Amino acid sequence: MKIVTDAQDLPAGCAFIPTMGALHQGHGSLFAMGKTLSHNVVASIFVNPLQFEKSEDLEKYPRTPDRDIDLAESFGITHLWLPTQDEIYPAGYKSLSAGPLGKIYEGASRPGHFDGVVTVVSRLFDLLKPRFAVFGEKDFQQLSLIRKLNDSVEIIAAPTIREADGLAMSSRNMRLSPAEREAASIIYKALNSGEDLDGMRAILASEPLFTLDYLENIDEDTFAPPTEESSKIRTIIAGWINQVRLIDNMQVDNMQINRMLLKSENLR
Ligand code: PAJ
Repeated sequence: MKIVTDAQDLPAGCAFIPTMGALHQGHGSLFAMGKTLSHNVVASIFVNPLQFEKSEDLEKYPRTPDRDIDLAESFGITHLWLPTQDEIYPAGYKSLSAGPLGKIYEGASRPGHFDGVVTVVSRLFDLLKPRFAVFGEKDFQQLSLIRKLNDSVEIIAAPTIREADGLAMSSRNMRLSPAEREAASIIYKALNSGEDLDGMRAILASEPLFTLDYLENIDEDTFAPPTEESSKIRTIIAGWINQVRLIDNMQVDNMQINRMLLKSENLR
């Protein structure tokens, strides 16, 4: 594996996995997906200041460079890209707007966050010119925004990798105490319960350490409330445990959709 700072030393036309480091098996699964797409697999690590609303969160973001190098290498990454701040944001760079989808759900709770995400990803794409880029479904709103960003890079979605108790892997999980970490599994328990939103809210309310931000069903294509025309529906959730923000989502299967439709017909 080559460790590279200058984008000129990287292979265009590759499979690309952008990250902010503190790598875990969730990132690893994206790297493995990259290997199935291209001989050259480039991963980047860049903690993007533009996508943090508070400088305190940027400072607190975990940094584990030695472990990251080992993990990237073990998953067959061919080039690890550690760009400099100046390369990504030269003087006079232009910030992009994520548009209306950048202002709801995660964007409502984290103003400016998605503008920062689309700005850095578009900059990384411009410098590298990959053929494929792999993103996790774990950050479903981010994935949807990136899909709209660029037509010349094929965006590949990778499923969410979870801990044994169902908690979606995240670098933020390290900030939870053992008791908080255990409490965090309530998110998956609710999502995986097969209950409707009211039932899921009741499950979540049973965990005193968890504070809910939002829990909604959305049409995957529009992020609007699902209608009878929606081909794919997803439940999205966000909340906090002791100020650590946790997000997750799960596709609603056909049986659940039928039950939802029946229920809304009975209500009419
Ligand atoms: P980061 O949080 O490091 O995540 C990098 C990629 O890993 C994203 O595509 C994310 O969805 C994916 N990922 C994280 N946890 C995952 C899990 N448990 N299972 C599967 N995939 C997972 O997302 C970012 O960085 C940044 O916003 C970035 C896109 C790099 C722009 O700065």
